[in-house]
Amino acid sequence: MADDLKRTGPIGVFDSGVGGLTVLKEISRQFPNEDIIYLADQAHVPYGNRELEDIQRFSVEITEYFIRQGAKLIVVACNTASAAALYHLREKFPDIPFVGMEPAVKPAAETTESGVVGVLATHATFQGELYSSVVERFAKDVKLTQDPCIGLVAEIEKGNLGGAETRKILENALKPMMKAGIDTIVLGCTHYPFVFPLIKEIVGPDVRLIDPSPAIARQVGRLFEIYGLENELDRIGSLSIKTTGDIKKLSDFLINTGFEMKANSLKWGEELGADN
Ligand code: DGL
Repeated sequence: MADDLKRTGPIGVFDSGVGGLTVLKEISRQFPNEDIIYLADQAHVPYGNRELEDIQRFSVEITEYFIRQGAKLIVVACNTASAAALYHLREKFPDIPFVGMEPAVKPAAETTESGVVGVLATHATFQGELYSSVVERFAKDVKLTQDPCIGLVAEIEKGNLGGAETRKILENALKPMMKAGIDTIVLGCTHYPFVFPLIKEIVGPDVRLIDPSPAIARQVGRLFEIYGLENELDRIGSLSIKTTGDIKKLSDFLINTGFEMKANSLKWGEELGADN
């Protein structure tokens, strides 16, 4: 761990798109005194059906950008990028603390009463070694039923959080899960908490949804303690949201979902790595 990480530096948070905003919200709620830079790599969204090497390359270039901004800690607010690149990032940047995501199978397996748990995540997350290892370690005694919700990330990116197409994708995923007897659903993609109300409407009040964002923010706090990285408490942190894609689209999304702020653009090829 490098001694030159500064407590006054920002936290870097990234995702392929708007999904990581669900994590960002929790981090800024738990640490209002911190400066945060959020980067949505919307030039490349969705990551979920891309090659592992591509996701690793994007993640490395985003990390290098955050380091240039003086980041003291990086949150990979994307299950897909964590599955594809977290190990690689930790190896390549040993001086920076990373917080990554994995589907919250452990708390689901510990609390399910029916013994059947539904997991919603992207194809790439299900294919990754991280997921197999989570399943092997924590889900030996429960039945998991999985669905990659093809097309859901794209609908959420469009801001379609409750329309017909979004509902159809979710019903196709959730109805077989209900038949299989689930009482718990793991939201294994950071985009999915945006459709929490619709999922609840489909599965009803008795099925519990697990969103790992609060636990991820608590993990940020643990690393702050370990490395002495928390900023002064009596200040108000700044929040900067950037996209490699269309600024207007992201700004509209932010305003429609209650962030009440506009995004800035950041271009691949100029400020970030080579153009892809
Ligand atoms: N938000 C992402 C995740 O947590 C990735 C979605 C995608 O780009 O496919 O997996």
